[in-house]
Amino acid sequence: MNTAQRAARVMARADELASHSALPDGILRAYLTPEQSRVTTIAAAWMREAGLRSWPDAAANVCGRRLVDADDRPALLLGSHLDTVPGAGRYDGILGVLVAIEVADRLRDADLPFALEVVAFGDEEGTRFGTTLLGSRALAGSWNDAWLDLVDADGVTLRDAATTFGIVPEQIGSAARAPGSLVGYLECHIEQGPRLEELDRALGVVTAIAAAERRMISFRGEARHAATPRHLRRDALLGAAEAIVAIERIAREKSCSATVGRIRVEPDAVNVVAGFAEFSLDLRDETASGRDAAWGYIRQELHRIAGDRGLDVDVVSTHVAPEAPMADALRAAVAAGIAATGDATPVELPSVAGHDAMAVADLTGIGMLFVRCAGGISHHADESVREADVAAAIDAFEAAVLHLAQTAV
Ligand code: HGY
Ligand code: MN
Ligand code: MN
Repeated sequence: MNTAQRAARVMARADELASHSALPDGILRAYLTPEQSRVTTIAAAWMREAGLRSWPDAAANVCGRRLVDADDRPALLLGSHLDTVPGAGRYDGILGVLVAIEVADRLRDADLPFALEVVAFGDEEGTRFGTTLLGSRALAGSWNDAWLDLVDADGVTLRDAATTFGIVPEQIGSAARAPGSLVGYLECHIEQGPRLEELDRALGVVTAIAAAERRMISFRGEARHAATPRHLRRDALLGAAEAIVAIERIAREKSCSATVGRIRVEPDAVNVVAGFAEFSLDLRDETASGRDAAWGYIRQELHRIAGDRGLDVDVVSTHVAPEAPMADALRAAVAAGIAATGDATPVELPSVAGHDAMAVADLTGIGMLFVRCAGGISHHADESVREADVAAAIDAFEAAVLHLAQTAV
């Protein structure tokens, strides 16, 4: 197959995977669900077609290793994730898995100084249980059995979901790869930002992934009749509203990324002053220190608002990740890969979006190749890529692997 044919196959396969969703209208594939089970079976079959031995690991990730790598040489791992947010596009994560399979297929018999493996992670988004990177953190040896007690929106624990899915909860941590078993990790991913399109480039070299922290913030006041005079109210929803606007202001002033994407109110009735309001905060910055400095200002505002309005405020951190710089050798390989496609001055850019590479960085050096996406749109059905850019990504990703093979010491 030539590159154009492989790009067409990637687009068709992305369409096929998009049809496996928990939603009747839109894409949702969460960790340890029937939809994940179906797409991992499909991805495993595509891995086998590409000349890989494939297996599910103890964390329900799908892994593949070239058949020619029958020994136990350390591997270069290529991959991304197959899970999605609700109402997702069809390329976030999926593109990286499919490009990795195409490159493994093209290099199935190549003489490399390392083994070549592919992984399709099962939970990068954290959609179901709130804590993210569960699959890649299990592979990287960072699994925490406390996560077995996480519960989803239906009150199902991760432990029970794992058992229902067919894996042994207490063995998820055994998915950990031995230190030294990988020579590096490369991930191809849509940019999820407008920079490459602004610069009219198909591909880009990721320099680092932003530090992130997710929290649930709640205000507690008193549920009261809508007839209650204003001076007698302790309105939790107004406290949350004032806090959310303050968070936007502080993020703008501190040039960091803050997103409040979820809110719930109790008793959630049109004629009752809200006694309780809880909202999510996803806070990111190029560095953990910048992220934490912004949080310091936000936390001050939360307590001021609570004091002014006679509310109690509570904060629970649900996910923390430090910034993840790319390893020099892998960053150079990605740049060489892009140059091999004719772009002599590859663009370098940071990633505000989180990726499995952040977790794998605990185990080995990481490198990422970004692919232009229309309008920078992601986490939305309008997410789209150009087939020609996918073709360039396949060539660049393969060239990056070969560059590593030629420069590996
Ligand atoms: O949230 C992120 O940046 C990624 O899509 N999980
Ligand atoms: Mn995503
Ligand atoms: Mn992603």
